Amino acid sequence: MSILIAPSILNSDFADLRGELAKIAGADYAHVDVMDNHFVPNLTLGLPVVESILRTSPVPVDAHLMIEDPDRWAPAYAEAGCASVTFHAEAAVAPVRLARELRNQGARAGLALRPATPVEPYLDLLPELDMLLVMTVEPGFGGQPFLDAMLPKITRARRAISAAGLDVWVQVDGGVSRATIERAADAGANVFVAGSAVYKADDAAAEVDALRELAAQAHRH
Ligand code: DX5
Ligand code: ZN
Repeated sequence: MSILIAPSILNSDFADLRGELAKIAGADYAHVDVMDNHFVPNLTLGLPVVESILRTSPVPVDAHLMIEDPDRWAPAYAEAGCASVTFHAEAAVAPVRLARELRNQGARAGLALRPATPVEPYLDLLPELDMLLVMTVEPGFGGQPFLDAMLPKITRARRAISAAGLDVWVQVDGGVSRATIERAADAGANVFVAGSAVYKADDAAAEVDALRELAAQAHRH
């Protein structure tokens, strides 16, 4: 199972996105958090800024849409060129139709679950998905502590994916750092979003490498 590191630019300097993106050229994805101030109590950026990010990012863009009505708004992010587009299960009206639309636009389709949302109702949808995002904080802000209570959900998701013989990635987002990434990897995650851990480090590129190494070690064991 490949290990992928996707730094979140949420806590980077939005006035210098080009410079901030250049720091993570050694990562696998740039994780971009779109928040609409309705689905979550925070407002970040939308499609016009994502289009600029797509033009300047050295790595593919992984869009995490924390927005209401993703059925209406998500396809444009795929059309714009995001490699992966993740919408929330709690907000989508027709997740299968939406996932198919995203895939038709050439993007990977991701489904995100807030901490209180169980994975079980969505297990039958796995064949329609490329990634399942298990939130390990309440979405909305960077810098929150990793919720260990989500580890069993990660494990149940990974078991169901393996049992079905599927190749669906399991992403964790929130509080991922050197202190927590091994637990997430042990539980079965293979895509790791890290915001403050990377952007508060003195050397963001070295932090990406360190996180990758820790996750790889956990998978080898
Ligand atoms: C939170 C966002 C995360 C956030 C993670 O709602 O989805 O991507 O940037 O930040 P850290 O890694 O600081 O928890
Ligand atoms: Zn995110």
